[in-house]
Amino acid sequence: MATPPCSPHFCLASMASAREGPIPFADTHGDTNLVSSPEQREEEHADLIAALPSASAADSPVKLLRYQGFWLPDFYVAAAINLQQRFEPRRDDVIVASFPKCGTTWLNALTFATMARAAYPPAGADHPLLRLNPHQCLPFLEGLFQGGREAELEALPSPRLMNTHMPLPMVPRAVPACRLVYICRDPKDMVVSLWHFLGRLRPELPFNSVFECTCDGTMSYGPVWDHVLGYWRAAIARPDKVLFLRYEELLRDPAGQVRTLAGFLGTPFSAAEEASGTVDSIVKLCSFGHLKGLEANKIGHLNPLLPIPRDALFRNGASGDWVNHMTPEMASHLDEIVAEKMRGTGFTFSEL
Ligand code: A3P
Repeated sequence: MATPPCSPHFCLASMASAREGPIPFADTHGDTNLVSSPEQREEEHADLIAALPSASAADSPVKLLRYQGFWLPDFYVAAAINLQQRFEPRRDDVIVASFPKCGTTWLNALTFATMARAAYPPAGADHPLLRLNPHQCLPFLEGLFQGGREAELEALPSPRLMNTHMPLPMVPRAVPACRLVYICRDPKDMVVSLWHFLGRLRPELPFNSVFECTCDGTMSYGPVWDHVLGYWRAAIARPDKVLFLRYEELLRDPAGQVRTLAGFLGTPFSAAEEASGTVDSIVKLCSFGHLKGLEANKIGHLNPLLPIPRDALFRNGASGDWVNHMTPEMASHLDEIVAEKMRGTGFTFSEL
């Protein structure tokens, strides 16, 4: 259906095309970004999908399917295949990638605020992050490629800023075609964060179930070690195209990491920006305490189709909370599994 010229969507779309990207995705495309409804699940690739190994997992209310070595929620497998076949990266695209519960929301906010700082000064009273949850600012690749909404990506002005939890093999043309920013986190803190998050939907979910599915890799987008390694290796091979960040380092030195991010994006802070405190404004705008206190992050749900309250994205915002949730034996067990999987690669989670 054509959009009437006087509708809010038409006006926002006209504004958007007059302005360079990134633009807040929700302003032009509404709030149906994260997941599509079951009715929208694609019948595409049905034969291939039907032949995949399946599992149920504590971290997912749906079946997981193993596609090219990764466990994906069943409704995202078609999205993965579509992304592999049809995603056309532009040279100035930027993709924020992460394993769930590793700092995606924060990195989305920081990258949006950094990239869009000319159009939206980070100390400005009308900054989009003051009225939108960070996830509403970026299109979520698997949501769009599952729901047959790829044209919405095409219509975005450059430079586009997008978000995904997909492992790197699902976006094979992204490197070296465009830029990727990845964030990893100590898996022990990731498990704790995930358990609390899922608990908002399923309060009865035992911590052990989430812990065990992390240990054996059978979780959405898992195994976590292969997810991390794919991006880490790409960052070593193409540091100009993949920036590998750590949640713990971001906590320790947010301003330094934002400078690194801006340099990587090809837009280092100018002397004038440094003098006027732009870096600190971005850090402050995106800080845990600030985002958590905003109305946009306190009310509503992640998505009309995903009934987890938005405030679940802002729980503790620290590292090391695992000590309050697992025994030293459990911690060593997970550390040893991860160390074994990483053996010989040169990667460690404790490289700080
Ligand atoms: P905790 O549950 O340990 O508090 P994701 O965004 O990938 O879902 O990750 C969520 C985790 O990031 C949560 O961790 C959340 O509190 C934390 N987080 C969200 N926004 C943050 C921010 N601005 N600064 C620091 N941590 C943040």
